[in-house]
Amino acid sequence: MPEKRVTFASKIGVVAAAVGSAVGLGNIWRFPSQTADGGGAIFILVYIGCILFFGIPLMVSEFMVGRASRANTAGAFHKLAPGTQWKWIGRLGVLTGFVIMGFYMVVCGWTFVFIFQSVSGHLSGVSDFPANFMDLQSNPVKQIVWMVIFSLLTAFFILSGVKKGIERSAKVMMPILFLLLIILAARAITLQGAVHGLNFLFKPDLSHVKPTVFLDAMGQAFFSLSLGMGCMITYGSYFNNRTPLVKTAVQVSLLDSLVAILAGVVIFPTAFALSANPGTIVDELVAGGPGLLFITLPELFNQMPGSMVWSTIFFFLLALAALTSTISLMEAVTLYIHEEHPISRKKSTLLVTAGVIILGVFSSYSSSFFNFLDLSSAKFMLPIGGFFISLFVGWHLDRKVVYAQLTNDRTLKFGMGFLRTYIFLLRYVVPTAMLAIFIYGLAG
Ligand code: PHE
Repeated sequence: MPEKRVTFASKIGVVAAAVGSAVGLGNIWRFPSQTADGGGAIFILVYIGCILFFGIPLMVSEFMVGRASRANTAGAFHKLAPGTQWKWIGRLGVLTGFVIMGFYMVVCGWTFVFIFQSVSGHLSGVSDFPANFMDLQSNPVKQIVWMVIFSLLTAFFILSGVKKGIERSAKVMMPILFLLLIILAARAITLQGAVHGLNFLFKPDLSHVKPTVFLDAMGQAFFSLSLGMGCMITYGSYFNNRTPLVKTAVQVSLLDSLVAILAGVVIFPTAFALSANPGTIVDELVAGGPGLLFITLPELFNQMPGSMVWSTIFFFLLALAALTSTISLMEAVTLYIHEEHPISRKKSTLLVTAGVIILGVFSSYSSSFFNFLDLSSAKFMLPIGGFFISLFVGWHLDRKVVYAQLTNDRTLKFGMGFLRTYIFLLRYVVPTAMLAIFIYGLAG
């Protein structure tokens, strides 16, 4: 396997970049609101099951497709299955990346607004938090300005290149993020009354089981692990030949889940401890949905001494998490345009940034457009992508390639039983699960 292409320089860099992609707004606002909706501990248990049985095998597959081809998402299928239509799966992934960025960047912009509101002291003077958030939502120009700034910042890292931009930024940002979350979690669990939040998170209550919990948890797992659109194919194409794919996928998935659970440990104990009506707090959290972070949390922070410090730390952390995810999304799309067309990496980055900004402008003006992008990507495009990637590796990719990739050309020891289980999961279990999410998406 010749290595002409650029690769990540260090082992830690590989894990940091992939964790950076996985950990994002999905972990910090989507996970807690899904957990609240799914009944707490039960949802978390099912979620962990989904990560183990579906998420990890699919992540290994994406890494494998990327490294075996050393190409962008569409080019990878083109190289591994020349003359077939599989390349459309890669193209769909690129489109999905675009669509996700079209609304994700707007939320990223909000994190900047809230950092400034925290630092300037504005937030600590607010009395009506829903109105404060509504003010922002009804001000498209302000949203656009911050969305553009966030997009340009992402582009800056992409232009700095794979090693300097992506790897180095993730290596610095990810440990900071963990540290900040641990500080916040420590603060949250030492609040009086925090134990009720911890009980909700970790003590399964069977009376809360909803029939959709399995599907919700699975959708959350795929979104959170950045699976189904080719981000992990792109990053896999930068792995060197010694990167252990299975071990890396396990590490990334565990760290991603840890961040989500830590976010839960920040949010639930805080919410239970500081709420005026702990009896209805779960309903409030569910109703808050995506607004949860921008309404409930600043309100709760305001009841703590040093609210400015806590909210600044929190929104800074959220922006960092979001940035390493937007970097991965933009890289996947940029690399496709650059490698598949006669366009330089720089021009490709600028083109993608311009496209994202245009989508972002529409999303800022129209919440239904925003919701359309959100819904079509998470509920339809990612499941379709994941479904076909799993079929591709399970049924189409040469077993010799699969085995060579899993074992790094026989330098790592895996028994035949392991290989068979892996293929079985990809052939039958993962596609069936993805199909279920898709049907659920259609029905919902
Ligand atoms: N995993 C990211 C998050 O949780 C979102 C994402 C999805 C990033 C798909 C890349 C690809 O925020």
